[in-house]
Parts: sequence; structure tokens; C-alpha cells
Amino acid sequence: MAQLWKGRFKKELAKETNDFNSSIKFDSRMFEEDINGSIAHATMLGAVGIIEKSESEKIVQGLSEILNDIKNGRLDIDMEAEDIHTFIEGELTERLGQTGKRLHTARSRNDQVALDIRMVLKKEIDEIVKKLKDLIDVLCKKAEANKDTIMPGYTHLQRAQPITFAHHLMAYCSMLCRDLDRLKDVKRRMNILPLGSGALAGTTYPLDRNTVADLLGFDGISSNSLDGVSDRDFCIELASALSIVMVHLSRFSEEIIMWCSWEFKFIELDDAFSTGSSIMPQKKNPDIAELVRGKSGRVFGDLTALLTVMKGIALAYNKDMQEDKEAIFDAVDTVKMCLNAFTPMIDTMTVIKENMRNAAAKGFINATDCADYLVGKGLPFRDAYKATGELVALCIDRGLTLETLPIEQYKEVCGLFDEDVYTAINLENCVNGRLVEGGPSAASVDKQIAKAREIISK
Ligand code: ARG
Repeated sequence: MAQLWKGRFKKELAKETNDFNSSIKFDSRMFEEDINGSIAHATMLGAVGIIEKSESEKIVQGLSEILNDIKNGRLDIDMEAEDIHTFIEGELTERLGQTGKRLHTARSRNDQVALDIRMVLKKEIDEIVKKLKDLIDVLCKKAEANKDTIMPGYTHLQRAQPITFAHHLMAYCSMLCRDLDRLKDVKRRMNILPLGSGALAGTTYPLDRNTVADLLGFDGISSNSLDGVSDRDFCIELASALSIVMVHLSRFSEEIIMWCSWEFKFIELDDAFSTGSSIMPQKKNPDIAELVRGKSGRVFGDLTALLTVMKGIALAYNKDMQEDKEAIFDAVDTVKMCLNAFTPMIDTMTVIKENMRNAAAKGFINATDCADYLVGKGLPFRDAYKATGELVALCIDRGLTLETLPIEQYKEVCGLFDEDVYTAINLENCVNGRLVEGGPSAASVDKQIAKAREIISK
């Protein structure tokens, strides 16, 4: 396909140069947004009188037909074209002749591409938000079923204090709710129309930018034409928010992988979300979780690529910026793919409650509660801490736990102990006594679930 800008040139672009220069292989996915953006632009040109109303109508009609034809497979996008903008405008001109050539009045590909990416990414954010909400919903459901499932909470991957599986899952819900909020925020700042910035210096035509913004669902218009065409901070912000989503999914994946191991056996993944080994018949591997963990690297790479592309280019547009699309689309696609596999994997996993309970019984995770018991009897916390430490050492020596250590031994270490210590260190009591907001008690987890459900209902 001939270049739109060929007037100044005597030769066609070399084939190698065209392959290198062309972005159609990755920007063709913006065809719908490109066409809808052009329809709004042409409508406004006609309304203001920059072009004849009748010509504007023909252009809008022609663009709508092109959109339908692409969608219905009647028109193939030419992969030799320079980019999607060139292709659509060329096709329109082929269909309408002279009238088609009026579409690009008062517009540059620079503000056009800045518009298209924003439109595509707004849609992608909505999709990712929906997928995140689905995951939060599944987590709330799982949490509801595991409010009494005692498990050890860890610090340094050492058993630390008793929590419930519900409480652990709701921690991820809190993170994912913040992810939702970040994405909403990214979309809010992205939702500003750059069209009207022209190539860089605006235009002499009396554009009605606000009408175009309204037609395309933008909250406002950009206030500086150089900025409108030359920043991609909205891509960087999105890649950053998506990187944080991936950090959360990756940590969660790491825990899934650990919990599936024979060393933990806290959960079992459904066969549909596990794979076997080509040589070891006994293996059932958590490949999906591993891949999600691994794919986080891609998204961080996309963020780094965007930051690097943008950091050293003088205002306004430079072709370097064409690199924005592959990076941000890869980040978007990767997160969507990960969520598509991750959510049903969590939904279908089996929780092995006994193994969690057994692990919780063995790690002295009620030692803090034992010390708190002594505090309740009047001992300063530091002394209570020391006495409990001695008890733990005693238990380790004798192969016992705080639950099985006889009361006489307790009394030998500290005279304040009585039979009621066993109630105080009972794991269920330890958990359900933690009524503080945000804590692991069933009552507190109920509130956390209600809050998460309210967030995803909006
Ligand atoms: N394909 C280009 C991009 O993605 C479109 C903008 C082209 N503008 C230009 N002045 N060459 O950035």
C-alpha cells in the first residue's frame, strides 16, 4: 500500500524499511477505536462547518461500513500498511474518493494515535477490573467456607500465630481491592481527550474539542497540545498498576505452590488445573501457579521498557513512542490471561483442613496467647514472654506441645498458671478472641468479606 505522505518523496519505502517501520501487526487491534475516533472527528468537522455537512455524513457512513466489513470478515486489514490509521484512511479514500481525503483535516496521526491507545486501554481496564472482581468474589466465597479453618500464620516462613484460612485469603482480597482502586484511578487520569493537539501545535481550525470528548465518553480535554501528543504516562501508570497486580498474583501463586507440596499438603488443586510429569508417574504439578509467578516478569519488563522508551526523548512526538503499544498490550494481555486461569484454579481447589489444623498444633503458635494469659494474671508482658519461652524450651526438650505439657510443669516455671491455661491456649479460642478489626476471628472476617463484597458490587 502506498504511503499517505508520499507527496514529498520520489521513491517508495524499501521493503525492509517498511517491515521495520510498520506498526500494523500490533496496532490493528485498535481498528474499532480508530474508526470510532474518526467518526466523532468527522461528525464534529461537519457540525462546526470545517467540512460540508453532506461530506461529513458520507465519511461517517463510509467509516461505519468499513467497521462492519472488518468485523464481519469482509475486509482484511492489510499487514503491509504502515499502521492502522493509514490503512483505515486509505480504505475510506478508496471507497469515497475525494470526500475520504477530507477526514484528516485538522488532525495528525500524533493526536490520533494518542486518542486510540487511550480508548483501547480504557476498555482493557474495564475488562481487567471485571476479572479482578470475579477473583475477589471467588475468594470471598472460599473465605466464607473456611472461617473456622485454623492454620498457622507465618513470619519468616516460620509458624508464628494462629489464623484461619479465611483470614489468609482475605488478605489477598484487600490487596486486590487496592488494585481495583489503582486501576480506576489510572482510568480517571487517562480519560482526557488528546484529539485537537494536532501534530504538536494544535490547529488553526475552530475545533469543538469538548463535543468530540462527549461523543467518545471522555471526561475532559487535554490542556496542552505538546503534552497531549507526547506523553505516555498513562501507559506507564497502567503498566505499574498491572505490575502490582502481578506481584500479588505471584505471591499468591508461590503460596499455592508451597501448599500443594507434600511438605505442607494444605490444599489440592483440581486435575483440570494441574499437569503431570513426562517421566515421574506420581507427579501432579502446580504449573498454572508457576506460570503466573513466572509471567509477572514479563509485566515488570513491559513497565521497564515503557519507562526506558520515554525517559530520554525530547518533546513532542518521536517514533520511539510507537514502542508503547507492544509493551502495554503485552502487559494487559498477560494479566488477563493469568486471571483467566488463576480464578478457576482457586475456585476449584480442595482445602485440606485437617492438615492445616495439624500444622497449627505443632508450632507453638499459641505461645503469644500463653504469655497474654500471664499478663491477664498481672505479670508484666516482658516477664510473661520469658516464662513462656522457658515453657517452649521445655516442650521441645520433651517432645511435647503447650497443649500436652502437664500443669505441674507450667506451675514449676510460673506459679500464676492454673488449669484454665489450656482454655486460653486452645487454638480456636486464640483465633476467635482476636476480635480486633482486621483480625482472624470469624466475626472480624465476616466484616472483611462484607466490605470486599461491597467494593466489588460498585
Ligand atoms: N504508528 C505510529 C505510532 O504508533 C503512529 C503515529 C505516527 N506519527 C508519525 N508522526 N510518524 O506511534
